[in-house]
Amino acid sequence: MTPEQKIELQNTIDRVKTGGCSSVESHSVIFEECINFIKPKNILEIGFFCGNSSLMMLELSKKYNSKLTSVDPFLDNVTNDYLNSVGHPEEIGGDSVQLAAVESVRANYGNRFKFIHKRSLAASIDGDLNEKYDLMFCDGDHWRPGIDIDIQIALALKIPYILFDDFNKEFDGVRQAFAQVQNRFAALKLYTKEHDGSDCLFVANLDVIKIQ
Ligand SMILES: C[S@@+](CC[C@H](N)C(=O)[O-])C[C@H]1O[C@@H](n2cnc3c(N)ncnc32)[C@H](O)[C@@H]1O
Repeated sequence: MTPEQKIELQNTIDRVKTGGCSSVESHSVIFEECINFIKPKNILEIGFFCGNSSLMMLELSKKYNSKLTSVDPFLDNVTNDYLNSVGHPEEIGGDSVQLAAVESVRANYGNRFKFIHKRSLAASIDGDLNEKYDLMFCDGDHWRPGIDIDIQIALALKIPYILFDDFNKEFDGVRQAFAQVQNRFAALKLYTKEHDGSDCLFVANLDVIKIQ
């Protein structure tokens, strides 16, 4: 991405008023590379939080007119300290901020964006994940068995590509969960996010890739 494109993306984040764990600095190049590699029709995101990753993926996939479904029960309430840190000092913490971000993304991206206010497992059991997805961004529950569940959802839905966030953080279970199923996947690329020392792992689901 050019520096100008990064500035434009940040301006869009500021205008739409999303926030989040991911930022233009940490994730935009990763999303851009994965999206241009897959040219996805339909992305499934586990973990919306305050919407930055949804927004960046929707922006970077505009040329493919990709749709994105994001699933989040909003377990991590947003604090005013957090909001101050991402430049929304006037807001009040809690679910209302996250729901406002959902509405704002919906207003800006229309029917390209769908939000499911549930845990991924509940969404799966309730039959809400009823589309064909070609990329999962896995950034919800980072602990086992939660991450095991999300991997099983990806396998059951035959999603050909997964991008795992926070792959190498020592305190979570993403790497351990992936190790149990790694024979089902080919690792395509490990991206290091230098600012916080964690990685994103981009993988191909071998079962699906072989069939295609
Ligand atoms: C790290 S944040 C996501 C950050 C966001 N993707 C970004 O980059 O800005 C994790 C989010 O996952 C949600 N979450 C936790 N467990 C989940 C589950 N089982 N299904 C869906 N979302 C979950 C939490 O409520 C939280 O908002």
